[in-house]
Amino acid sequence: ALKGVIFDLDGVLTDTAEDHYQAWQALADAHGLTFDREANHALKGVDRAGSLRLILEQTGKAVEPPKFEAMLAEKNATYVARLRGYSPANLFAGVERLFAALRAAGLKIGLASASRNARDVVARLGIADAFDFIADAGAVTHPKPAPDIFLACADGMGLSPDQCIGVEDARAGITAIHAAGMVAIGIGSEEALPDADIHVPAIGDLTLGQILSAEQETAA
Ligand code: BG6
Ligand code: MG
Repeated sequence: ALKGVIFDLDGVLTDTAEDHYQAWQALADAHGLTFDREANHALKGVDRAGSLRLILEQTGKAVEPPKFEAMLAEKNATYVARLRGYSPANLFAGVERLFAALRAAGLKIGLASASRNARDVVARLGIADAFDFIADAGAVTHPKPAPDIFLACADGMGLSPDQCIGVEDARAGITAIHAAGMVAIGIGSEEALPDADIHVPAIGDLTLGQILSAEQETAA
């Protein structure tokens, strides 16, 4: 039976996905790299170094390790500066209502974000205490699409993977949830997330009822 729901952060609970994009775009523009909003889709859910590798590949450019590290730091500085404006007003509509419904149903709530800034973001959003466990992106060996962070989160909540369901807005994240043996709820269109088990346009549209029935339909 379902015991816990594990959420991605960026693009699921708040619009930081846009800030990540803007920070990558600024880096790309400053260094003459090929990048645009379309190319950014492939970066969603991908960790910092993996994202830069993808951008460099697209441009067909290689950089030495010190330069690579400096570029990562530059992107993060831009991103962190954008986070300074974040407050509870940046929490997507409906998150608090959904969390309250999950709690009332006796379900645990976990966070499985690839972001090293995740703790700072949830603190700014005022939801740091809402989670039974926050998985540490820096502590897992393999980033999404590997299942590691979702498995670590289930484990941290004292649950087995088959007792959990995952919520994601990125293809890499949906793949990670399935690899962890969990049902995957996609925030976005079927076109954007073809592998998700169910789709809702935004987190505010997701109900406890949908979560429970998604679990039952896919449980063999
Ligand atoms: C993911 C985002 O949640 O975190 C990616 O979808 C981002 O866009 C990744 O690159 C890593 O974030 P950070 O904050 O560690 O650079
Ligand atoms: Mg995301």
